[in-house]
Amino acid sequence: MSPPDPNSLEPSSPHELGVRAQSLLVVLGSISDDPTHLTRLYLSPSHRRAADFVGDWMRTAGLKTSMDALGTVRGSLDATSPGPNAGRRLLIGSHIDTVTNAGSYDGTAGVVIGILAVDEIRRRGIKLPFGIDVLAFGDEEGVRFPTTLLSSSAIAGTITAEMLLKSDRDGVSVRKALMDFGCDPDKIDEAAYDRDEVLGYLEVHIEQGPVLEHEKLPLGVVTSIAGQTRFKCIVLGEAGHAGTSPMGLRRDALAASAEIMGEIERFAREGREHSLVATVGQLIVSPGAVNVVPARVDFSLDVRAATDQPRLDAIAAIRTAAREIAERRHVAVMIESYHESQTTPCATHLQDGFASGIERLGLPVLRLTSGAGHDGHAVQHLTDVGMLFVRCRGGISHNPKEFAEPDDLGLAVEALVGAIEHLAGHFGGDS
Ligand code: GLV
Ligand code: MN
Ligand code: MN
Repeated sequence: MSPPDPNSLEPSSPHELGVRAQSLLVVLGSISDDPTHLTRLYLSPSHRRAADFVGDWMRTAGLKTSMDALGTVRGSLDATSPGPNAGRRLLIGSHIDTVTNAGSYDGTAGVVIGILAVDEIRRRGIKLPFGIDVLAFGDEEGVRFPTTLLSSSAIAGTITAEMLLKSDRDGVSVRKALMDFGCDPDKIDEAAYDRDEVLGYLEVHIEQGPVLEHEKLPLGVVTSIAGQTRFKCIVLGEAGHAGTSPMGLRRDALAASAEIMGEIERFAREGREHSLVATVGQLIVSPGAVNVVPARVDFSLDVRAATDQPRLDAIAAIRTAAREIAERRHVAVMIESYHESQTTPCATHLQDGFASGIERLGLPVLRLTSGAGHDGHAVQHLTDVGMLFVRCRGGISHNPKEFAEPDDLGLAVEALVGAIEHLAGHFGGDS
């Protein structure tokens, strides 16, 4: 932040808000587990440092901070005007973990924009008939552990102690990592909100796709978040000598995996009209030597579509094809699902809140779906979800080239303030 004077009540222009958002994102973008690029995995030392910065910024914005059992940083502001919902809270959140070799905007932009919006509400003296909690989640990307959305699932009350027993590649369990982070994994129940305590959940996120840029618009209202399923796949063949094993007698786990992956891609291409996409992003080949026929392949699979049925149909087709290929090649195949999020519709009144914030800026309102997954997938089990997208350059994300214009970030802060004011009208009376 161009260090904001905590006592100042001077409102800021969208341009100033954008410059401030950008400067905070530069700070978070420099906090990495790897000095050569941005990688900030859940519960890593860099996640801890980023959480500390976010907590400081929340306090500067006038929020009371705490950290829950899953490492989510929470900044709370109490209602400033009376009413039937004065004891309830509007949640605003996104995540501060990243993928490997990430960009600086995915998730973090939403956290920073949430903090600046609440700061701006305080500076403008806007009275709110409900409290606000700004949340900086940790496990949105699901890259370190074979889990995803743990922190947002915890606030929705949908995680169990068994989920914390999953381990990363180094054998460190979520439970152990939480303790090292300074959290108490035995208090997961306390992380859950009461359904009656919450009015809704708003998230601002970069689009991670090209639609807004193509339409020459800085902001858009999300109508739904695509459902997704993630799998651990294992193909087991038999190791053999690369020089002496005849091609027809091999049980090559990698050749079989490659054929399965070809089918996965074919099914996804055929489902284009449903925005079906399927990705194999991780591959481990064992024993992994130049002169040994591969005995085992572990690979990941992520399948998404705009609605649930085409995704479920594609998964069934992939399973059948994999079984046939495995039988023909005399290998074994296991495809185990470890995460499933249904398509998440965004609530109409929260869409309207963001639309009103955009209209107040004199901009047209474009509505679009999200192909990327978000914490809203988990939060939908607690409360209504609304999302605002911010244009990002070239639609590029999960890539160090990720970029959003500071002015667009400033407009997003302003649109979030507008949405909160709209909801203050909506929830101010009896609801
Ligand atoms: C999160 O970024 C996801 O959609 O995988
Ligand atoms: Mn994200
Ligand atoms: Mn992401």
